[in-house]
Amino acid sequence: MKETNSLFRWTGMLAAGAAILGLATPGLAEQAGNAKPTQAQRTIEYRQSALYLLGWNIGPIAGMVRGEIPFDAKAVELRAMRLAQIAPMIAEGFPADSQTGAPTKAKPAIWENMDDFKSKAATLEQATAKFAETAKTGDPKLVAAGLGEVGNACKACHDRYKAD
Ligand code: HEC
Repeated sequence: MKETNSLFRWTGMLAAGAAILGLATPGLAEQAGNAKPTQAQRTIEYRQSALYLLGWNIGPIAGMVRGEIPFDAKAVELRAMRLAQIAPMIAEGFPADSQTGAPTKAKPAIWENMDDFKSKAATLEQATAKFAETAKTGDPKLVAAGLGEVGNACKACHDRYKAD
């Protein structure tokens, strides 16, 4: 954990430095070419970032539930809280003008079934909100069950709307 903390500090300082110099850290869209990113590129990058953050935060909880890393109730609580904060940010990353314009695994079916897509996003929102409460108990069994519920909400959407 100590190493991780110093890495956080280091990347934090780097980002702060870039901000002071007025330099934005180049995102995927900018790296792809020199042109200013289009609105669609920015939107696609936004949603992929939010989804990436979900994956980043759920990973260690899954590792604990599988017994690959020691159970750490405080870490579960923090990451579950982050999932609950990020989940409500997903739906706004899929406006009609973001179907194409950058590499994406979002299937066109999303925009043909927007109500269903949004309801799947809402299911994740509810599951993560509940999971954030469950995580506060620090009970590994309840955490495992809650993680299963959250994981099902991820999978239900990916199965229908995310290309492999
Ligand atoms: C409402 C639908 C939906 C839900 C719910 C959902 N995802 Fe996704 N996810 C997608 C779609 C669509 C993509 C592809 C986005 C793109 O490429 O533009 C994606 C992509 C991703 C990616 C790849 C991001 C990248 O780097 O490009 C990760 C990681 C991910 N999801 C994790 C999760 C996790 C973990 C959960 C549950 C906690 C979750 N997703 C829930 C629809 C969803």
